[in-house]
Amino acid sequence: MKRIKVGIIGQGRSGRNIHRHLFECMPALKERYEVIAIADPITERHALADITPSPELKCYTDYKQLLADKRIELVVNASRSHKHIDISIEALQAGFNVICEKPLARQVADVERLEKVIKESGKFFAVFQQSRFRPLFRKSLEVMNSGVLGRIVMVKVAYNCFGRRWDWQTIQDMCAGELLNTGPHPLDQVVQFFGNADPEQIFCKMDRANTFGDAEDHIKLIISGKGHPTVDMEVSRCCAFPGNTYEIYGTNGGLKACGTEVSWKYFRPQDMMEQHAIIKPLEGAGRMPVYCGEDMHIYEEKWTCPAYANTFDCWGTDYYKDIYEGITTGKPTEVQLEHVKRQIRIIEECHKQNPFPKTIDIGDAI
Ligand SMILES: NC(=O)c1ccc[n+]([C@@H]2O[C@H](COP(=O)([O-])OP(=O)(O)OC[C@H]3O[C@@H](n4cnc5c(N)ncnc54)[C@H](O)[C@@H]3O)[C@@H](O)[C@H]2O)c1
Repeated sequence: MKRIKVGIIGQGRSGRNIHRHLFECMPALKERYEVIAIADPITERHALADITPSPELKCYTDYKQLLADKRIELVVNASRSHKHIDISIEALQAGFNVICEKPLARQVADVERLEKVIKESGKFFAVFQQSRFRPLFRKSLEVMNSGVLGRIVMVKVAYNCFGRRWDWQTIQDMCAGELLNTGPHPLDQVVQFFGNADPEQIFCKMDRANTFGDAEDHIKLIISGKGHPTVDMEVSRCCAFPGNTYEIYGTNGGLKACGTEVSWKYFRPQDMMEQHAIIKPLEGAGRMPVYCGEDMHIYEEKWTCPAYANTFDCWGTDYYKDIYEGITTGKPTEVQLEHVKRQIRIIEECHKQNPFPKTIDIGDAI
């Protein structure tokens, strides 16, 4: 099997602990990819324990050196978020295929600037949205799309936790805040649950709760549109009692998903008596007042996710297997740039509705 030669920009929590780890430690990826270059000014991060690196591996201290290395076939842009667009453009213009970490951008205009370069370069480009491959999400979407729950009225997605944060992921000018940091994971799923269109209405309320930066860490988002379910998303760092990750409300039943379990229940319309609206007061025996009530046979089903399938390693492996097919055979990848652009359109509107003052100057930080 041909191995794609990879160069990774940044050896931080993502570049080192996610991407390099995936390529070096997941057998299905090790046979498809070979990391031959990495770049990070913090040289202590260049070595990775318990692996045998490629004999061809070169370690650089700046991403510009890596972009001069013409042995590379695929650049993974795991730089910090405010550099995603510019470094991706540089990499494409230098002739490389590119995978860029989420969030792709803060504004649609930046995505369009990038799209132009992708077209001109003729190179492969995709955004790392590995949560698209989360089995808990995929199973929930599969049940929803099976039709068993009837017409889907509402979907709730919640990626909540409780905790304080003070790193660069709290700073507006670093393209950060929870909407851009955690948000792209559930938002990518929200776009899939909503269906193939931009929402007609977007309502967003954001707050700054447990953050030491100048960006939000609490988001409530509701999107709607004719012919689509209302989708309600929460990403909060001040939720002491997180509930279900996904909830689906349908006319024939509902679904909940949390941890490793998806449960759903529903009635079958063919089992039910025909009903019609009654204007007169409802009567029971002896013409006594009663409420609506009927026997409803409820079918209940449950699916448990295998433990391994509930890990970043699993989703990342499936993501990169899909990318491999995309690069080597031209097959369209699951995560399309159009999906990501739809996500960025929502993000941009959320920020517009919730302006917070910028109080932190980041200088020329990369
Ligand atoms: N998809 C996911 O699950 C996931 C998880 C974590 C982070 N991320 C994303 O990955 C990106 C990076 O985040 P992180 O948490 O790894 O940040 P980080 O701060 O841990 O790492 C950034 C790295 O970039 C390096 N760097 C700085 N200047 C550089 C230069 N000139 N050339 C090369 N490297 C340079 C830094 O030294 C640092 O090691 C962010 O956009 C974040 O949103 C995604």
